Parts: sequence; C-alpha cells; structure tokens
Amino acid sequence: MSHLTRRQLLALGLAGAGTAAVGGTGLWWTACRGDTTSGGPSGAGNDLLEPEVLNSRDGVLEMALVAAPARIRIGGQEANVHAFNGTLPGPTMRLRGGDTLRVSMTNGLDAPTNLHVHGLHVSPEGNGDNPFVSIDPGGSFDYEFALPDDHPPGTFWYHPHRHGHVANQLAAGLYGALIIESPDPVPVSRERTLVVSDITLDSAGNPVAASSPEQMLGREGQTVMVNGQVRPRATAAPGAREQWRIVNACPSRYLRLTLDGQTLCLLSRDTGRLPRPVDVTEVTLAPGNRVELLVGARRGTSTLLATPVDRGTMPGMMTGPLAGALTARDEPIELLTLEVTGAPAEELDPVPAGPALRDLRTEPVADRRTLEFAMGMGGARGMRGRTRGPGSMMSFTINDQPFDADRTDITVRAGTVEEWTLINTSPMDHPMHLHVWPMQVLGDEGGSPTWQDVVNIPAFGRVTVRVAFGDIVGRTVYHCHILDHEDLGMMGTILAR
Ligand code: C2O
Ligand code: CU
Ligand code: CU
Repeated sequence: MSHLTRRQLLALGLAGAGTAAVGGTGLWWTACRGDTTSGGPSGAGNDLLEPEVLNSRDGVLEMALVAAPARIRIGGQEANVHAFNGTLPGPTMRLRGGDTLRVSMTNGLDAPTNLHVHGLHVSPEGNGDNPFVSIDPGGSFDYEFALPDDHPPGTFWYHPHRHGHVANQLAAGLYGALIIESPDPVPVSRERTLVVSDITLDSAGNPVAASSPEQMLGREGQTVMVNGQVRPRATAAPGAREQWRIVNACPSRYLRLTLDGQTLCLLSRDTGRLPRPVDVTEVTLAPGNRVELLVGARRGTSTLLATPVDRGTMPGMMTGPLAGALTARDEPIELLTLEVTGAPAEELDPVPAGPALRDLRTEPVADRRTLEFAMGMGGARGMRGRTRGPGSMMSFTINDQPFDADRTDITVRAGTVEEWTLINTSPMDHPMHLHVWPMQVLGDEGGSPTWQDVVNIPAFGRVTVRVAFGDIVGRTVYHCHILDHEDLGMMGTILAR
C-alpha cells in the first residue's frame, strides 16, 4: 500500500472491497445475485428516463448531430441549455467492435466547437477523433470513426473538445453516452445508462457563467442531474441483476457513489470489463470516468448518493466568495431513488468470467517519462497559460508549459510500451486523461490489471502508469479532465508514429 492513498484506492474502485475479492472464487456472485429481504418506504420523483438510443446497423451508425441552444425542463424549471439534438444528454450511440461511426456535426452555437469520442481507441487523424478540428458557428464537419475489430467493450461518451470552450460547453449541457457492446454480454435483467452531470441556472433558467476563481478551482454546478433529471425514480424487481452504465459528465465534480441497501459489483471501469466483478460498497468517479455496476436488487428503497470528495483547494480560497461553495460540498447529493418491490425477478445464470486483461507489468518498457502537473503563480514561464481577470496570476501547466496546439510535447513510437510517472505539485487533485490509449495504473494492488483512461493524481501525489502504443498513429492530446483546468492550459500534445 506504500504509494496508494485511500483516495487512490477509491479512484481504483477498490475501497470497500477487500482486494482479495478480485481473486475470490465465486464469492462475489453470491452477492451479485441479490436477495429478497423486506421492504421500506417509497421514494418520490419522476420516472427515470433514458436518452434515445441510436444503434449501428450492418456495421455502420450514420447520424447527424447538432449542437445548439435548446429549451428543456430541469427539475420543474424551464431552462435554456445547449444540447445535442435538442436533448440533455444527447442520444446514446451504440456500436460494436469493427463498426464505423459517421457523425455529421453542425455547430448551432455562437462559439467554435468540435466533437471528441472519449475513451475510444480510434485514429486521432484527419476527420477521426481529432481534437484540433474547430467548427465555426454555423459550420459543420463530417467525422468518421473506424473502430478496430477487437475494440474493448464498455461505456464511453462524447463531448465537445474545442480548447478554450470545453468547460463552458459541457456545463451548458453538451454530452452523451457511447456504448460499445460486448460480444459476450453479461446476463442481466436490464441495462440502464446513467449520465451524471451538473449545471448552475439562474432564476430565468439560463446557465450561469463561472467566475475566474470558480474556473481555477474547477466549477461545480449547483444542480446535479441523472439523464437531465433531478432525483428521478427507478423501480426493479427483487433479485434482479441490473447493469448500470454510469458516466461522470460533470466538468469538475468528483462523484463518490453509494447505493445503500443494494448489492454492488464493479464490472467495468472506463474501458473493457474486469475478468471478475469486484464487490464494492462505493465507487469514485473523477470527471470523465465511467463505471459499469451490477446492481443486485434487494427489496426496499435505496438512494444513489454522491458524497462529497475532498479534491483539495487553493491557498487563499477558503475565504471570500467561494468559501460557501466549498462548504456546500459537505452535503451528500441524492441522485436517484431505486424502489425494489413486487414479484421476484427471474433467476439469471451466474456472471461468466471475462477474458484476461493485458498486463503491461510484465512487458518491456521502451521509454520512461515524467509529467509534472503544476499550478503556478504566473511569472515569465506561466505567461501563456494565464487567465484573464482576477485569476490572471494563476498558470496551469504540464512540465512547465501551458497548452500550445502547434508544439508537440511527446513523441512515441507505435508498438512500444512506455512508463509515465504523473506528478502533481499542486494542492488540488488533477484527473489526467490521455486520448486514444488507455493507461494501466501501476501499484501494489496485485490481481488483475487496472486500466483507465482518466487517472486521478492526488494533490501533492504521484501515480505511475504504463501505456501500450499499438498500431494507431497520429497526434492528439492528454490533459486534466477538470475541464476548466484544461481550458486554462493544463494540456499537452502527443504524436505516435
Ligand atoms: Cu473527455 Cu480530452 O476528453
Ligand atoms: Cu477523451
Ligand atoms: Cu486539474
């Protein structure tokens, strides 16, 4: 446990479950089956809705995606948001390995935008998952994403990635889920896709712009939603096994999730699936992370809670206008009510073991690098990462440099494995995200390898990861997924060739 703090363990989804459970023989699925213990009072709220699902057919999903202002209802209030195809979240895209996704995207906003398919292992070149594309207001762009045949299954998502506008556009409502189906799906009673996001609306229902200090801390919206709803209600039959695909689409908010009274097994984190689900009592998602949970339904009413996560702060920010916002983080937020009632669900087959994961711990390392994430007080070298306004003295850098789209920071050779040490010299956590290639988090956790595409680097902490650069070549980015930090410059470029 030497280098892993509790917070890192939480980030790995290992808290609340002995790591021995990973290798436990069959123990976990006793719990995953749920039971039929007795009742509790009913919850309130509207029935949980899910975004429209667009499925690929004959290997292709071809669709139009419009990013534009939309008027919708959020928690009983009329709201003027920005949305994909008029809904918040946008439609769920559902594909399989080997499929081609064609998205004709139109920018109906008054700022430039673009599209990123977060977590997909696809080409970052040309009209692929290219974060350097910029679509002007009124313009459009035809994307094509070709999934490799052996693309890992899992829950992914899409969102705009135009540098300088990312946090604003997500905070206004632009995101959606993207599912890669497994060739061997786990037997479940039903699946749910739960996109968690946050927004701050004024009394007229307009999104409130983040202040400069809020951007430096990473803005957290006052209203936290599941699929655009405030505390909706879902029902399940006792003994049901549900697969919940949860996306943290908040620009900065971490989600420590619990669902007391129900049995939870972690099936997947970010990408692929764990060979065996792990019993958990809670999971923590940094911004950008996803989990798939198997919920073993037990009679009664449970609430999906997001308990506050201490992700650090900045010196001098515990007083003044933000002090209130920070103390507000102490209240758990009710995301969703699950009522388990009625006739017992049909019994399902046990969850079969999934394929073994690639383990880079035993593979040769071609190169080692250090990436240092820093928040500095301006000065000459921080100049280009400066913000405007009261925050003008704060720079957000990786290896001393703020983002420059024209500079290539890291060049790697396709087909090699690298080891990166991610160091955080600042008093706030930074969830590091690398496009295209997932990272294997090293540690002494033993057991099955941990793969993620967003890895939290705790305040004043460090994490070591290994990355396998396969046959995909091209230039893309890595960055802090506190999207305000990314917009403020905490992003670098990488070229694989
Ligand atoms: Cu979720 Cu660079 O993105
Ligand atoms: Cu991404
Ligand atoms: Cu950050």
